[in-house]
Amino acid sequence: MKLPLALLATTSGASAFTTVNNGPRSITELSASRQPIMAGNWKMNPTTEADALNLANGFCALLNEMADTCAMDDVEGCTEVVLFPPFPFISKVKDIVGKEGVTVGSQQVYYEDKGAFTGSVAASMVKSVGCEYVLCGHSERRALFSDSDVNINSKVKKVLEFGMKPILCVGETQDEYDLGITQEVCAMQVSKDLAGVSKKDMKDVVIAYEPVWAIGTGLVCEADAANKVHKFIRTVLAKMYDEEVAQSTRIQYGGSVTPESVDGLMAMSDIDGCLVGGASLFSDKFARICNFQ
Ligand code: PGA
Repeated sequence: MKLPLALLATTSGASAFTTVNNGPRSITELSASRQPIMAGNWKMNPTTEADALNLANGFCALLNEMADTCAMDDVEGCTEVVLFPPFPFISKVKDIVGKEGVTVGSQQVYYEDKGAFTGSVAASMVKSVGCEYVLCGHSERRALFSDSDVNINSKVKKVLEFGMKPILCVGETQDEYDLGITQEVCAMQVSKDLAGVSKKDMKDVVIAYEPVWAIGTGLVCEADAANKVHKFIRTVLAKMYDEEVAQSTRIQYGGSVTPESVDGLMAMSDIDGCLVGGASLFSDKFARICNFQ
Protein backbone atom coordinates (compact mmCIF):
# COMPACT_ATOMS: atom_id res chain seq x y z
CA MET A 1 0.00 0.00 0.00
CA LYS A 2 1.12 3.50 -0.74
CA LEU A 3 1.31 5.71 2.34
CA PRO A 4 -1.05 8.67 2.32
CA LEU A 5 0.97 11.85 1.86
CA ALA A 6 0.16 13.20 5.31
CA LEU A 7 1.57 10.07 6.91
CA LEU A 8 4.67 10.21 4.74
CA ALA A 9 5.31 13.71 5.96
CA THR A 10 4.93 12.89 9.61
CA THR A 11 7.30 9.96 9.32
CA SER A 12 9.94 12.22 7.80
CA GLY A 13 11.28 13.26 11.16
CA ALA A 14 11.05 16.94 10.23
CA SER A 15 10.05 19.13 13.14
CA ALA A 16 7.62 22.00 12.82
CA PHE A 17 9.22 25.44 13.09
CA THR A 18 6.05 27.03 14.30
CA THR A 19 2.87 25.88 15.97
CA VAL A 20 1.03 29.18 15.78
CA ASN A 21 -2.33 28.92 14.04
CA ASN A 22 -2.62 31.03 10.88
CA GLY A 23 1.12 31.70 11.02
CA PRO A 24 3.70 30.49 8.51
CA ARG A 25 3.18 26.91 7.39
CA SER A 26 5.23 24.38 9.29
CA ILE A 27 7.95 22.27 7.68
CA THR A 28 5.68 19.25 8.12
CA GLU A 29 2.84 20.99 6.32
CA LEU A 30 5.14 22.14 3.54
CA SER A 31 6.59 18.63 3.11
CA ALA A 32 3.06 17.24 3.04
CA SER A 33 2.33 19.40 0.03
CA ARG A 34 5.09 17.70 -1.98
CA GLN A 35 3.22 15.30 -4.27
CA PRO A 36 5.48 12.39 -5.29
CA ILE A 37 6.55 12.57 -8.95
CA MET A 38 7.94 9.69 -10.99
CA ALA A 39 9.35 10.44 -14.43
CA GLY A 40 10.43 8.06 -17.17
CA ASN A 41 13.11 9.46 -19.46
CA TRP A 42 13.17 7.25 -22.53
CA LYS A 43 16.20 9.11 -23.96
CA MET A 44 16.80 8.01 -27.61
CA ASN A 45 14.69 4.87 -27.20
CA PRO A 46 12.88 2.81 -28.40
CA THR A 47 13.95 2.81 -32.04
CA THR A 48 10.56 2.80 -33.79
CA GLU A 49 7.13 4.33 -33.29
CA ALA A 50 5.57 0.87 -33.07
CA ASP A 51 7.87 -0.07 -30.19
CA ALA A 52 7.19 3.23 -28.42
CA LEU A 53 3.42 2.72 -28.59
CA ASN A 54 3.80 -0.87 -27.38
CA LEU A 55 5.79 0.37 -24.41
CA ALA A 56 3.19 3.03 -23.60
CA ASN A 57 0.32 0.54 -23.92
CA GLY A 58 2.10 -2.06 -21.80
CA PHE A 59 2.83 0.47 -19.09
CA CYS A 60 -0.79 1.67 -18.98
CA ALA A 61 -2.14 -1.87 -18.78
CA LEU A 62 0.06 -2.53 -15.74
CA LEU A 63 -0.87 0.76 -14.07
CA ASN A 64 -4.50 -0.28 -14.42
CA GLU A 65 -3.84 -3.67 -12.88
CA MET A 66 -2.20 -2.18 -9.80
CA ALA A 67 -5.15 -1.34 -7.62
CA ASP A 68 -3.46 1.34 -5.51
CA THR A 69 -1.91 3.25 -8.39
CA CYS A 70 -3.36 6.55 -9.46
CA ALA A 71 -1.09 8.56 -11.69
CA MET A 72 -2.88 11.86 -11.43
CA ASP A 73 -1.47 15.34 -11.18
CA ASP A 74 -2.90 17.31 -8.26
CA VAL A 75 -4.89 14.47 -6.71
CA GLU A 76 -4.12 14.10 -3.04
CA GLY A 77 -2.50 10.78 -2.26
CA CYS A 78 -1.57 10.11 -5.88
CA THR A 79 1.85 9.89 -7.42
CA GLU A 80 2.26 12.12 -10.45
CA VAL A 81 3.71 10.20 -13.42
CA VAL A 82 5.39 11.83 -16.43
CA LEU A 83 6.87 10.18 -19.52
CA PHE A 84 9.54 11.76 -21.71
CA PRO A 85 9.40 10.02 -25.11
CA PRO A 86 11.55 11.14 -28.06
CA PHE A 87 9.98 14.04 -30.04
CA PRO A 88 8.43 12.01 -32.91
CA PHE A 89 6.47 9.83 -30.49
CA ILE A 90 5.19 12.47 -28.04
CA SER A 91 1.71 13.02 -29.50
CA LYS A 92 0.78 9.39 -29.93
CA VAL A 93 2.21 8.39 -26.54
CA LYS A 94 0.21 11.20 -24.97
CA ASP A 95 -3.00 9.90 -26.58
CA ILE A 96 -2.38 6.52 -24.95
CA VAL A 97 -1.11 7.47 -21.51
CA GLY A 98 -3.25 10.59 -21.03
CA LYS A 99 -6.28 8.37 -20.40
CA GLU A 100 -4.52 6.99 -17.31
CA GLY A 101 -3.68 10.43 -15.98
CA VAL A 102 -0.04 10.17 -17.05
CA THR A 103 1.40 13.36 -18.51
CA VAL A 104 4.13 13.76 -21.13
CA GLY A 105 7.15 15.99 -21.35
CA SER A 106 9.90 16.96 -23.73
CA GLN A 107 13.50 15.83 -23.20
CA GLN A 108 14.82 19.06 -24.62
CA VAL A 109 13.94 22.46 -26.11
CA TYR A 110 15.98 25.31 -27.57
CA TYR A 111 15.62 28.63 -25.79
CA GLU A 112 14.90 30.73 -28.91
CA ASP A 113 11.24 31.21 -29.90
CA LYS A 114 11.54 30.23 -33.58
CA GLY A 115 13.68 30.74 -36.66
CA ALA A 116 16.71 29.39 -38.48
CA PHE A 117 17.93 26.86 -35.92
CA THR A 118 18.03 23.66 -37.93
CA GLY A 119 17.28 20.59 -35.88
CA SER A 120 16.01 22.49 -32.86
CA VAL A 121 12.59 22.44 -31.25
CA ALA A 122 10.94 25.43 -29.54
CA ALA A 123 9.04 25.51 -26.25
CA SER A 124 5.85 26.61 -28.05
CA MET A 125 6.06 23.50 -30.26
CA VAL A 126 6.23 20.97 -27.46
CA LYS A 127 3.61 22.91 -25.52
CA SER A 128 1.28 22.75 -28.54
CA VAL A 129 1.48 18.95 -28.66
CA GLY A 130 0.58 18.68 -24.98
CA CYS A 131 3.88 18.60 -23.08
CA GLU A 132 3.61 19.72 -19.47
CA TYR A 133 7.24 19.19 -18.45
CA VAL A 134 10.65 19.77 -20.06
CA LEU A 135 13.94 18.28 -18.89
CA CYS A 136 16.59 20.98 -18.50
CA GLY A 137 20.26 20.42 -17.73
CA HIS A 138 20.31 16.64 -18.06
CA SER A 139 23.92 15.52 -17.71
CA GLU A 140 23.86 13.92 -21.18
CA ARG A 141 22.90 17.29 -22.67
CA ARG A 142 25.58 19.01 -20.59
CA ALA A 143 28.30 16.53 -21.57
CA LEU A 144 27.40 15.53 -25.15
CA PHE A 145 25.68 18.67 -26.44
CA SER A 146 27.64 21.34 -24.53
CA ASP A 147 24.65 22.71 -22.63
CA SER A 148 26.12 25.45 -20.44
CA ASP A 149 24.55 26.76 -17.25
CA VAL A 150 23.78 30.01 -19.09
CA ASN A 151 21.88 28.11 -21.79
CA ILE A 152 20.16 25.89 -19.24
CA ASN A 153 19.04 28.99 -17.35
CA SER A 154 17.57 30.44 -20.58
CA LYS A 155 15.73 27.17 -21.21
CA VAL A 156 14.31 27.01 -17.69
CA LYS A 157 12.96 30.54 -18.08
CA LYS A 158 11.58 29.83 -21.57
CA VAL A 159 9.80 26.69 -20.35
CA LEU A 160 8.19 28.67 -17.51
CA GLU A 161 7.27 31.52 -19.89
CA PHE A 162 5.28 29.01 -21.94
CA GLY A 163 3.42 27.70 -18.91
CA MET A 164 5.28 24.39 -18.68
CA LYS A 165 7.32 22.96 -15.81
CA PRO A 166 11.06 22.42 -15.99
CA ILE A 167 12.69 19.44 -14.33
CA LEU A 168 16.14 20.87 -13.65
CA CYS A 169 18.78 18.14 -13.44
CA VAL A 170 21.91 18.74 -11.38
CA GLY A 171 24.64 16.50 -10.07
CA GLU A 172 28.34 15.83 -9.80
CA THR A 173 30.53 13.77 -12.13
CA GLN A 174 32.65 10.87 -10.91
CA ASP A 175 35.73 13.15 -10.74
CA GLU A 176 33.83 15.76 -8.74
CA TYR A 177 32.51 13.04 -6.44
CA ASP A 178 36.05 11.75 -5.90
CA LEU A 179 37.19 15.30 -5.10
CA GLY A 180 34.42 15.58 -2.48
CA ILE A 181 32.82 18.62 -4.11
CA THR A 182 29.28 17.28 -4.63
CA GLN A 183 27.71 20.08 -2.61
CA GLU A 184 29.71 22.80 -4.34
CA VAL A 185 28.74 21.48 -7.78
CA CYS A 186 25.05 21.19 -6.90
CA ALA A 187 24.97 24.65 -5.29
CA MET A 188 26.64 26.17 -8.33
CA GLN A 189 24.32 24.49 -10.82
CA VAL A 190 21.15 25.24 -8.85
CA SER A 191 22.04 28.90 -8.37
CA LYS A 192 23.16 29.49 -11.97
CA ASP A 193 20.37 27.51 -13.61
CA LEU A 194 17.63 29.16 -11.54
CA ALA A 195 19.05 32.70 -11.73
CA GLY A 196 16.21 35.15 -12.31
CA VAL A 197 13.45 32.58 -11.66
CA SER A 198 10.88 34.20 -9.38
CA LYS A 199 9.64 32.74 -6.13
CA LYS A 200 6.18 32.52 -7.71
CA ASP A 201 7.50 30.43 -10.60
CA MET A 202 9.34 28.06 -8.26
CA LYS A 203 6.06 26.22 -7.59
CA ASP A 204 6.39 24.84 -11.15
CA VAL A 205 10.05 23.86 -10.89
CA VAL A 206 11.10 20.31 -10.05
CA ILE A 207 14.76 19.57 -9.33
CA ALA A 208 16.33 16.19 -10.08
CA TYR A 209 19.52 15.32 -8.22
CA GLU A 210 21.35 12.95 -10.55
CA PRO A 211 24.89 12.00 -9.61
CA VAL A 212 26.41 11.55 -13.08
CA TRP A 213 28.42 8.52 -11.95
CA ALA A 214 25.17 6.72 -11.12
CA ILE A 215 23.43 7.36 -14.46
CA GLY A 216 23.17 4.27 -16.63
CA THR A 217 25.96 2.58 -14.68
CA GLY A 218 24.00 0.40 -12.28
CA LEU A 219 25.72 2.22 -9.40
CA VAL A 220 23.01 3.62 -7.14
CA CYS A 221 23.83 6.36 -4.74
CA GLU A 222 22.87 5.07 -1.28
CA ALA A 223 19.47 6.41 -0.21
CA ASP A 224 20.96 8.11 2.87
CA ALA A 225 23.68 9.80 0.85
CA ALA A 226 21.19 10.98 -1.78
CA ASN A 227 18.90 12.30 0.94
CA LYS A 228 21.76 14.35 2.41
CA VAL A 229 22.32 16.00 -0.96
CA HIS A 230 18.59 16.68 -1.30
CA LYS A 231 18.59 18.34 2.13
CA PHE A 232 21.62 20.36 1.09
CA ILE A 233 19.85 21.51 -2.11
CA ARG A 234 17.00 22.74 0.12
CA THR A 235 19.48 24.89 2.04
CA VAL A 236 20.59 26.40 -1.28
CA LEU A 237 16.95 27.13 -2.17
CA ALA A 238 16.40 28.64 1.28
CA LYS A 239 19.29 31.05 0.68
CA MET A 240 18.13 31.91 -2.84
CA TYR A 241 14.45 32.21 -1.91
CA ASP A 242 13.17 31.29 1.54
CA GLU A 243 12.26 28.32 3.73
CA GLU A 244 8.86 27.95 2.08
CA VAL A 245 10.40 27.41 -1.36
CA ALA A 246 13.08 25.16 0.15
CA GLN A 247 10.50 22.89 1.76
CA SER A 248 7.87 22.89 -0.96
CA THR A 249 10.08 22.31 -4.05
CA ARG A 250 9.98 18.71 -5.20
CA ILE A 251 13.38 17.07 -5.58
CA GLN A 252 13.71 13.78 -7.46
CA TYR A 253 16.60 11.37 -7.31
CA GLY A 254 17.92 9.94 -10.60
CA GLY A 255 20.61 7.41 -11.44
CA SER A 256 20.07 3.67 -11.99
CA VAL A 257 16.79 3.60 -10.07
CA THR A 258 15.21 0.11 -10.15
CA PRO A 259 12.22 -1.65 -8.59
CA GLU A 260 14.72 -2.96 -6.03
CA SER A 261 16.05 0.46 -4.98
CA VAL A 262 12.96 2.66 -5.28
CA ASP A 263 11.33 1.83 -1.94
CA GLY A 264 14.45 2.68 0.06
CA LEU A 265 14.88 5.94 -1.84
CA MET A 266 11.24 6.97 -1.44
CA ALA A 267 11.34 6.25 2.30
CA MET A 268 13.75 9.18 2.68
CA SER A 269 12.40 12.43 4.06
CA ASP A 270 13.62 14.66 1.25
CA ILE A 271 13.31 12.44 -1.83
CA ASP A 272 10.04 13.24 -3.58
CA GLY A 273 10.28 11.03 -6.64
CA CYS A 274 12.65 9.54 -9.17
CA LEU A 275 13.85 10.36 -12.68
CA VAL A 276 14.24 6.98 -14.30
CA GLY A 277 16.11 6.14 -17.51
CA GLY A 278 16.89 2.49 -18.25
CA ALA A 279 14.18 0.96 -16.06
CA SER A 280 11.48 3.15 -17.69
CA LEU A 281 12.00 1.18 -20.92
CA PHE A 282 10.48 -1.89 -19.24
CA SER A 283 6.79 -1.40 -18.53
CA ASP A 284 6.77 -3.81 -15.59
CA LYS A 285 9.79 -2.19 -13.93
CA PHE A 286 8.52 1.34 -14.37
CA ALA A 287 5.00 0.45 -13.22
CA ARG A 288 6.51 -1.06 -10.04
CA ILE A 289 8.64 2.06 -9.54
CA CYS A 290 5.56 4.31 -9.88
CA ASN A 291 3.82 2.05 -7.40
CA PHE A 292 6.60 2.27 -4.81
CA GLN A 293 5.81 0.92 -1.39
P1 PGA B 1 19.26 5.73 -15.56
O1 PGA B 1 19.07 7.20 -16.17
O2 PGA B 1 18.05 5.45 -14.74
O3 PGA B 1 19.35 4.84 -16.78
O4 PGA B 1 20.50 5.75 -14.77
C1 PGA B 1 18.60 8.25 -15.37
C2 PGA B 1 18.61 9.54 -16.13
O5 PGA B 1 19.49 9.73 -16.99
O6 PGA B 1 17.76 10.41 -15.93
